[in-house]
Amino acid sequence: MNQDELKRAVAAAARDYVAEHLPGGAIIGVGTGSTANCFIDELASLRGRIGGAVASSEATRARLEGHGIRVLPLNDVAEMPIYVDGADEITPGLAMIKGGGGALTREKIVAAVARTFVCVCDESKLVERLGRFPLPVEVIPMASAHVTRQLARLGGQPRLREGFVTDNGNLILDVAGLDIPDPAELEGRINQIVGVVTNGLFARRGADLLLLAGAGGVRAVTP
Ligand code: A5P
Repeated sequence: MNQDELKRAVAAAARDYVAEHLPGGAIIGVGTGSTANCFIDELASLRGRIGGAVASSEATRARLEGHGIRVLPLNDVAEMPIYVDGADEITPGLAMIKGGGGALTREKIVAAVARTFVCVCDESKLVERLGRFPLPVEVIPMASAHVTRQLARLGGQPRLREGFVTDNGNLILDVAGLDIPDPAELEGRINQIVGVVTNGLFARRGADLLLLAGAGGVRAVTP
């Protein structure tokens, strides 16, 4: 199977998981990216059974609505049993780097409300140690030079993502070369830099279940 086929296979597995575990009429959180897009296409078949969805980006909102799925503002939702999203890297302990698509802040907010975070990936995303994928950091525009200097002091090489503005009107610094022995510690440390909105380490609240697609099919991984 090529990578697109793996993404479609894991998206179908996530739809089956949702069909089995999401209570009828409940609200589901939906992530952003190419794997999440495959999942949205699958979710269309459950449209009549879910109460609606919360989107982690404008792109996801548009795709959900294109399938006739009702999209609710997060502030109107008190209970979200399941959030489904992809990742750029994930460890066997289910800590992740996310934000390759620039939606990391809304993804982290929606995930914080969800009871169960289901990550959907193909095997290329599974790593023993995070950090080969440059870490996305969302920053307030007026702070980008300050945050760049602070991230360099942590040993990284930050680069401004050219021509990109987040759904929140901010900028993304992609930080290469970080040594990440303790993802939860670094997640907290970077978030303490003034001007950072959030960073793409999802370790303090990692995934609860990984559906991982490989040549042998889709397998479930728990931390
Ligand atoms: C979006 O901002 C990201 O966090 C995505 O979830 C992540 O980049 C995975 O995207 P793909 O499924 O396209 O690889």
